[in-house]
Amino acid sequence: MTEKKYTLTDHQSGTELELPCYDPTLGPSVLDISSLYGKLGVFTHDPGFGATSCCESNITFIDGEKGVLVYRGYPIEHLAEQSSFIEVCYLLLNGELPNADQLAEFDESIRTHTMINESLLRFFNGFHHNAHPMAMVTGVVASMSAFYHDSTDIRNPAHRDVFAHRMIAKIPTIAAAAYKHSLGQPFIYPRNELSYCGNLLNMFFSVPSADYEVNPIAEEALDLLFILHADHEQNCSTSTVRMAGSSGTNPYSAIAAGISALWGPAHGGANEAVINMLEQIGDASQISKYIAKAKDKNDPFRLMGFGHRVYKNYDPRAKIIQAMCHKVLQNMGQENAVLLELAQELEQIALKDEYFVEKNLYPNVDFYSGIIYRALGIPTSMFTVMFAIARTVGWVAHWAEMVADPTSRIGRPRQLYNGPGLRDYTAIFDR
Ligand code: ACO
Repeated sequence: MTEKKYTLTDHQSGTELELPCYDPTLGPSVLDISSLYGKLGVFTHDPGFGATSCCESNITFIDGEKGVLVYRGYPIEHLAEQSSFIEVCYLLLNGELPNADQLAEFDESIRTHTMINESLLRFFNGFHHNAHPMAMVTGVVASMSAFYHDSTDIRNPAHRDVFAHRMIAKIPTIAAAAYKHSLGQPFIYPRNELSYCGNLLNMFFSVPSADYEVNPIAEEALDLLFILHADHEQNCSTSTVRMAGSSGTNPYSAIAAGISALWGPAHGGANEAVINMLEQIGDASQISKYIAKAKDKNDPFRLMGFGHRVYKNYDPRAKIIQAMCHKVLQNMGQENAVLLELAQELEQIALKDEYFVEKNLYPNVDFYSGIIYRALGIPTSMFTVMFAIARTVGWVAHWAEMVADPTSRIGRPRQLYNGPGLRDYTAIFDR
């Protein structure tokens, strides 16, 4: 990492402060303002962190202007084409692609950690049948800290590895239990001979009373979606995991915090919101009405699955998903082809509209992912849970990177206080 300097001048006092500026491997230079308050007594103000780097990381890089996403240096297109979700998990956690033995060992470890404690399984009976699956998954993941608190020493790298493997292996089992609970069907135990996504599909769709065979196209589509969603550097949920984890809390609690953050419609909840929006639009004749609503500042309606804080170009993940959408719909869930046609027509109209062009609003990862999930038979309320399963590895990798970094400190932002100035307490009879 090379370093250059910037000089900040306080024109009132004439004080000058030299600030180091680091050139990263990829991306814009980063000005180190950590000495600012100590030297000049001022904070910086950047609500929403639009121009603030909150940590040093070696995991994922995004070039939003060019629409580029890389995991540990590997372009997402290469990984989507040639890798598997399990291999991507290894890469994100360890920094390098595994050799054949390392991959087999990692895969075996994930397969053998898939069961959850029976007591944890009984938690689901406490939820109402129509509880949102994201609420159940958040609660149950947070409860994992009650099972693994005394055996999780975050300063011990071996304990961190066990946590990582447990979390990645058990999240599909928890998600499937939430789904089965909502249906009132018996819980299906994991089957370790199946692949990560094959096992997930089996836990979702098989029942004890009938045979079930995993559809290889569904398995391939899920594996691809999981690769694409596995990490996205310092997004809202990952930053939440880092923030919660920075206090030294139990890592399962930190992951639960991330799942909560993911749920919102401005983040991972968008995949559910896109399908609801497409159904609300109904048919192509209504598109112009909804485009007008999205552009109207007095209307809260937004085009869901459009726009991104970082991408000011086509989200590379959306391109890859769109191609898989066609493959899935040719083989299963053909009744969803009308949804895809509507989405494509909406995209074409929005991409030519001056408002969307001017603001660089393009489809994001969630514009098309819901159509695949729908074709696979996954209900809309489970879409964000699917995202959470895939993103778990990203959260774990960032948490582990932060905990292993000896220079990391508790996250503690400052503020621009605009409340009342100092005043005296008034006794109640004088108010
Ligand atoms: N529809 C209509 N207008 C939009 C949209 C949209 N989807 N997205 C942004 N805009 C407009 C805003 O109104 C704003 O206009 P202004 O400058 O005239 O005020 C401008 O574009 C910039 O948008 P911001 O909200 O300031 O951008 P921000 O980076 O804060 O938000 C976000 C990004 C939350 C993703 C936003 O684009 C959005 O709400 N999109 C829809 C929800 C969505 O798809 N979320 C998924 C994101 S990807 C993910 O997390 C997996």
